[in-house]
Amino acid sequence: MKLTVITGSPHKKGTTALLAEKFIAGAKETGHEVLRFDTAFENVKPCLACEYCASHDGECVHKDTMNDLSKQLIETELIVFVTPLYYFGMSAQIKAVIDRFHASNAKIAGSKKAMLLVASYIADDWAMEGLETMYESMLRFLNWEDAGKLRAAGCPTREVLEQTAYPQQAFEMGKNLCQ
Ligand SMILES: Cc1cc2nc3c(=O)[nH]c(=O)nc-3n(C[C@H](O)[C@H](O)[C@H](O)COP(=O)(O)O)c2cc1C
Repeated sequence: MKLTVITGSPHKKGTTALLAEKFIAGAKETGHEVLRFDTAFENVKPCLACEYCASHDGECVHKDTMNDLSKQLIETELIVFVTPLYYFGMSAQIKAVIDRFHASNAKIAGSKKAMLLVASYIADDWAMEGLETMYESMLRFLNWEDAGKLRAAGCPTREVLEQTAYPQQAFEMGKNLCQ
């Protein structure tokens, strides 16, 4: 399967980077083709809502690395969103990428699966509700199917995360993907 893993953290060696690494290692072990897009280290400008894309067959007025990702997303079968919890939502870096889906909604909607991997400081059961509602609404709008979620709650740092079962769970999620 062709997968795209989109990460949202500016920490190259943070918690969600570890979840992404483990997930990708599991997916590659079973022969999946993985493209990783680290939003915090790419040049992705926020959507201007100019609607240039509406009259230019989905081409965006911005000329940045989102255009490469947009092409990849048309081909991909599974999109994995990996983000730290920032004020009970996704990070701004990954949200900027999602907002840019606006240009290619029609091309990417339908026949895809998605996954959500999150790490947060607090472990309260309500902490990820807002993020999950946004994720579920996005999938409903784009007609994508949820293929699984990993909630690494109570993990402020990589050192804490390493003491939990979440990295192994991320690996298993990647390894156990349907072919
Ligand atoms: C700007 C900012 C906002 C945050 N907001 C939340 C939050 O709303 N709830 C929470 O539990 N943790 C919050 N955190 C903590 C991070 O989600 C947590 O430390 C996470 O493990 C960081 O992931 P990373 O190392 O991959 O960047 C926030 C951290 C930052 C820097």
